Amino acid sequence: MAFVFAWTLLCLLLCFDVGGCRSRNVLLIIADDGGFETDVYNNTVVQTPHLRALSKRSLIFKNAFTSVSSCSPSRSTILTGLPQHQNGMYGLHQGVHHFNSFDGVQSLPLLLKRANIHTGIIGKKHVGPGPVYPFDFAYTEETNSVLQVGRNITKIKLLVRKFFQSHKEERSETKEERPFFLYVAFHDPHRCGHSQPQYGVFCEKFGNGESGMGRIPDWEPKYYSPDQVKVPYFIPDTPAARADIAAQYTTVSRLDQGIGLVLEELRKAGFENDTLVIYSSDNGIPFPNGRTNLYGSGVKEPMLLSSPEHQQRWGKLSQAYVSLLDITPTILDWFSLPYPSYSLSMSQPVELTGRSLLPALISEPSWDTVFSSQSLHEVTMFYPMRSIHKGPYRLLHNLHYRMPFPIDQDFYISPTFQDLLNRTQSGRPTGWFKTLNEYYYRQRWELFDVRTDPMEKVNLAGDLDYSEVLESLKDLLLKWQWRTEDPWVCEPDAVLEAKLEPECRPLYNGL
Ligand SMILES: *[C@@H]1O[C@H](CO)[C@@H](O)[C@H](O)[C@H]1NC(C)=O
Ligand SMILES: *[C@@H]1O[C@H](CO)[C@@H](O)[C@H](O)[C@H]1NC(C)=O
Ligand SMILES: *[C@@H]1O[C@H](CO)[C@@H](O)[C@H](O)[C@H]1NC(C)=O
Ligand SMILES: *[C@@H]1O[C@H](CO)[C@@H](O)[C@H](O)[C@H]1NC(C)=O
Repeated sequence: MAFVFAWTLLCLLLCFDVGGCRSRNVLLIIADDGGFETDVYNNTVVQTPHLRALSKRSLIFKNAFTSVSSCSPSRSTILTGLPQHQNGMYGLHQGVHHFNSFDGVQSLPLLLKRANIHTGIIGKKHVGPGPVYPFDFAYTEETNSVLQVGRNITKIKLLVRKFFQSHKEERSETKEERPFFLYVAFHDPHRCGHSQPQYGVFCEKFGNGESGMGRIPDWEPKYYSPDQVKVPYFIPDTPAARADIAAQYTTVSRLDQGIGLVLEELRKAGFENDTLVIYSSDNGIPFPNGRTNLYGSGVKEPMLLSSPEHQQRWGKLSQAYVSLLDITPTILDWFSLPYPSYSLSMSQPVELTGRSLLPALISEPSWDTVFSSQSLHEVTMFYPMRSIHKGPYRLLHNLHYRMPFPIDQDFYISPTFQDLLNRTQSGRPTGWFKTLNEYYYRQRWELFDVRTDPMEKVNLAGDLDYSEVLESLKDLLLKWQWRTEDPWVCEPDAVLEAKLEPECRPLYNGL
């Protein structure tokens, strides 16, 4: 609350200073399955000059996490500030998966619309239902080809230009300067081998000018050789995986140049000095142990926060633990808007457990805890997990740990996973840091010390030396589950009886 007040005051002061109140705007840029393939995060192979330029005007978070490693659920948490188990978007939105948030959820775009802020979305929306996520200006997969609005950076540039034009036209008609919230959701660098294999495994050929690929006039593709790429610890170091990563890098070049174009439009429209720019991604990269996992490799995200009003920490690194659940509170804070009082399933009022990141723009905060919650990805992939990452410790609760960990369709046919399957099946060395069997069958509780074990291989949950750590993390995790109305809060050994006094009733199932 103190921050909201401080911001309002600052805004008032600015009005007197500048002799007219300029509105504050937000540009949110989200990559699809993007990771640390950028020199901003010390991958010196991938050239991403535009992300680099943005980082020089940003606070760079080294410890940003998604709360869920799946596309629609993650986007729903970005746009509501509520974990998937609370907003109802348990899995993917499209096709047979058909997940949607609850009708009563008061999302960020809804709150902004109500506050008379001009809202726009360009690219991959992937959340629903429509009335929960309304945008005044929308060019998404619902109305266009996702390749065009999500990967054709020339098309995206023109749409961004159109949004700013409509914004300015409205201003000259009404003589009123209202703020805007523009959400640009790239589809790059997502895989496409399962849906559009003609364009390559990462759609890296789409628009590259070769015969049959069409041309994206603004894109100058960058090519990398398999022996050049950096193979992260959680990907098998094999020729198949290296070729896969090289293709991913080429698609990252389209994302990076697209970001450059979007920021150029912002500048040309004259909004650069009034606009908070946020860059991140929805979930981990689509490789083994990555997307759909709550291990570090599945939940760590790039995150840049660029405020024109806070230059003191531009280009600096923050070690603070931040979450994509913080994006909604951050944007509400930037616009000095309160979160409304209402309730969803249980009778308690909905509360945001994320926080505004704006204070981090002024001085380094001591935030050291983030939570995650995953239930599904595709509709068949039920594998509920909850986790807390506090300081050096990550605790995972695999609720249905006796089931094999599920595999999604586009990852399944990826060259990296096919090669891993083949090698495992024929008994050849896999080059991977764990076995497929270990990957499929997990312990119920997994506790890692990421200082000494960054690959999260040594489960300390059964180690008596860590029993106090384990108990205190379990306790914090459970409290967060109750606070966020998690229907799975009693699983797997009890049933939640939620009607009167919510409580866990035992099942005596031996777990
Ligand atoms: C990049 O490397 C430098 C030098 O080792 C290190 O200080 C910095 O923290 C790294 N940056 C990121 C974002 O990891
Ligand atoms: C990308 O969009 C531009 C502008 O609409 C168009 O001229 C171009 O043909 C598109 N490229 C592809 C590969 O679809
Ligand atoms: C934004 O601020 C910079 C530096 O203060 C200035 O050079 C630039 O002209 C400003 N841009 C606009 C559109 O006001
Ligand atoms: C895996 O093995 C199958 C059947 O032997 C073969 O068709 C496929 O090409 C192999 N894939 C890879 C990536 O080696």
